[in-house]
Amino acid sequence: MQRRGFLKGVLAAGAAPMLFNGCVRGFMANGKVNIGVVGFGRIAHSMDVPLTIKYLDKCRFTAVCDLDSLRLDFGKRYIEGKYRNLAGEKDPVVKTFSCYRDMLADKSIDAVMLCIPDHWHAIVATDAILAGKHIWLQKPFTQTIEEGRILRDLAVRRGTVMQVGSWQRSTKQFAQVCELVQNGRIGDVVRVEVGCGLDKEGGSSAREEVPANLNYDLWLGPTDPTAPYNETRVHSQNLKKIDSRPGWIQLEPYGWGMITNWGAHQIDIAQWGLGKDDSGPESVEGTCEWMSTAGGKLWNVHTKYDLHYSYNGGKTDVNVSDRYPMGIKFIGEKGDWLYCMRGESVTASDPKDAKAGQMLPLMASDKKLLEPITDPSAVRVHTSNNHWLDWIDAVRAEDPSVTATNASAAQRSATACSLGHMCMKTGKKIVWDAKDEKCLTPEALPLMKPFARGKFNLDRAYEWLKKNA
Ligand SMILES: NC(=O)c1ccc[n+]([C@@H]2O[C@H](COP(=O)([O-])OP(=O)(O)OC[C@H]3O[C@@H](n4cnc5c(N)ncnc54)[C@H](O)[C@@H]3O)[C@@H](O)[C@H]2O)c1
Repeated sequence: MQRRGFLKGVLAAGAAPMLFNGCVRGFMANGKVNIGVVGFGRIAHSMDVPLTIKYLDKCRFTAVCDLDSLRLDFGKRYIEGKYRNLAGEKDPVVKTFSCYRDMLADKSIDAVMLCIPDHWHAIVATDAILAGKHIWLQKPFTQTIEEGRILRDLAVRRGTVMQVGSWQRSTKQFAQVCELVQNGRIGDVVRVEVGCGLDKEGGSSAREEVPANLNYDLWLGPTDPTAPYNETRVHSQNLKKIDSRPGWIQLEPYGWGMITNWGAHQIDIAQWGLGKDDSGPESVEGTCEWMSTAGGKLWNVHTKYDLHYSYNGGKTDVNVSDRYPMGIKFIGEKGDWLYCMRGESVTASDPKDAKAGQMLPLMASDKKLLEPITDPSAVRVHTSNNHWLDWIDAVRAEDPSVTATNASAAQRSATACSLGHMCMKTGKKIVWDAKDEKCLTPEALPLMKPFARGKFNLDRAYEWLKKNA
């Protein structure tokens, strides 16, 4: 039913999807989704691979790719070790690739998990779609708004199953609050307080020798090739620290700081609760401070920030700031509120709860506001209680319409994050036409463009979309 619904929707929109992403022949040859993971760093090792590999009857990690041979070899050993431990296999073999394009050319791979830095998302994801793979893409969907539009258009047109790593959508309390808000439990929403956290200055701008195991030019990809190497620009060379925060995440142009990093989680929930998965804000304005690079420090993204996003013709103010506790608080016209954050789902307003009164994962101004919705005609949000399994099941069904964080919704959330970045970079109010996805603030237009350098570009995606217009 849902798949038919998806097709009807796409056809009604006038687009002719390629069914499905060109991977019909040989798809799931062994009855399992054969996965290649691109980027074996912190998040692949600590989250995405372990939380997916355990579904032994549904998927199989057959390949790993990394441009750092130390991490590539570690990833291979890690995955093979998992198959020895989880499945009792004697001699599992995982293929290795140092270039993602070679991995994409392997027809036995059905789907790829892209766990790479943000400046690479759009290029690798569009190439993967064109190679006929279904995709797990870490958040943020993309960095620039134009990158996001191309990637979304390609994914939708090719019928690619995409799940984006904004996994809060597969967690009970977020889904519960968004469903309640969408159904008017607190009336019209006048204000959303979004707490995203704060980055700390650091890193070193000193030039260091590039380690022999790292293809640094490829790591820089579409960005400035003259940027001097320092370990704090890239990632730790100590495998014992593979789960540590990489330097690039607080360094432009590779990462844009909390606005896109945690914004891809928190602003995503604000968008979801407000029912804006196919639209967005009308403007963003506010202030921020920037990291100091004095004394040879390297990291340069924003620190304190206080941004106001205007939605619903100015009736809803989404205030994104480090001033708030981490989480999302929806406030209604009469002052009622619903709050959600990560962690175990407990209601602090329950007087028996020892933690009553503290900021907990799920809270409300009145516990009655959390009572289940009984109206059979109520809007229901897509719920999944496992983001990784949700993706595997959607890939198995080849149904792009059923992932918790699909390409269209993720692209809209990423756009909202990018608008915040554009506001901070220009110091201007950004006016946004969400319907036509156009920025009406001239000073910010250059920040919409995709990253590109030489062969690292989106030309193949543009060409495909032009040919298949
Ligand atoms: N969903 C979440 O909760 C969450 C949390 C943290 C980070 N992330 C996201 O996960 C992604 C990865 O972050 P991380 O912290 O693991 O970074 P990381 O730097 O630790 O790991 C990235 C790996 O990708 C490799 N790599 C880079 N470019 C490559 C390319 N073109 N081809 C092949 N390999 C390449 C690097 O060598 C490195 O091993 C980022 O997009 C980040 O924003 C998501």
